[in-house]
Amino acid sequence: MLDKKIRGFEQFAEEYSEEYGDVSLYEDLLKKFVSRLDHGAKVLELACGPGNITEFIYKCRNDLQIECVDIAPAMIELVKKKLPHVTCHLKDIKSFKIRKNRYDGVICSFGLPYFTQKEAMQLFNNISGGLKKNGVAYLSTMQGDTEGFETFEFTRGTEVYIIYHTREFLDAEIEKNGLQIIEYEEQVFHEEKEDEIDMIYILGKK
Ligand SMILES: C[S@@+](CC[C@H](N)C(=O)[O-])C[C@H]1O[C@@H](n2cnc3c(N)ncnc32)[C@H](O)[C@@H]1O
Repeated sequence: MLDKKIRGFEQFAEEYSEEYGDVSLYEDLLKKFVSRLDHGAKVLELACGPGNITEFIYKCRNDLQIECVDIAPAMIELVKKKLPHVTCHLKDIKSFKIRKNRYDGVICSFGLPYFTQKEAMQLFNNISGGLKKNGVAYLSTMQGDTEGFETFEFTRGTEVYIIYHTREFLDAEIEKNGLQIIEYEEQVFHEEKEDEIDMIYILGKK
C-alpha cells in the first residue's frame, strides 16, 4: 500500500491519465529535449505516471530506448498497456539505483512535488550521475515555498501531499550537481476555478 501522501496516484491513475494525458502545454520544451538526443539514445523517465511524456517523445522519435520508473502499480500498468516496447520499473525513485553514465537523457516531469528538499538534492545528484557527458535533463515542478495536503480534480476529493520548490532552490541545487541550466519556461496553470499554480520547466545539460 502506498503512503497516504501519494496514494491518490494509485487510486486515480486512469483519471490522472485522462486529465493530464495531453502534454501540449509543455511540448515545446519536450521537443527541445528530444532534439538534443542522438539516434538510439537512452532515456530514463522518473515518476512517469501513465506514460504521457514518454508517449509524446516516442511519437517524436521512435528510435529512442526509453525506461520508465514509477512507484504506483496502476500507473506502470497503464504504461505497459499503452507502450509495450518501453522498459518499466515499478520502483520508488528514492531508492532506485540509476546506473552511472548510462543515459543520454533523463526526464522527471512533476515528480519533484513529492520530494522534500533533501530528497530533491539527492535526486539531482543521482540524475547527474546517471547522465553521460553532454546528456540532457528535463525537469518540471510546481513553484512555491509551502507544502501540505491538497485535492485535485483527478483525485475526486482524495488528498495528495504536495511540496512546492522555489526557483532559487532548484537553480542552486541543479547547478551544484553539475548540470548547466540551458532553458526555462514558467507557466501559470489553472486547477479548478480559482486555484492558480506556478509551474516551472527546466532543461539542463551535463
Ligand atoms: C504528478 S504525477 C506525474 C506523472 C507524469 N510524469 C506527468 O508529468 O504527468 C507524479 C507521479 O510520481 C509518482 N511518484 C511519486 N513519488 C514517487 C516515488 N518516490 N518514486 C516513484 N514514483 C513516484 C506517482 O506515482 C505519480 O505517478
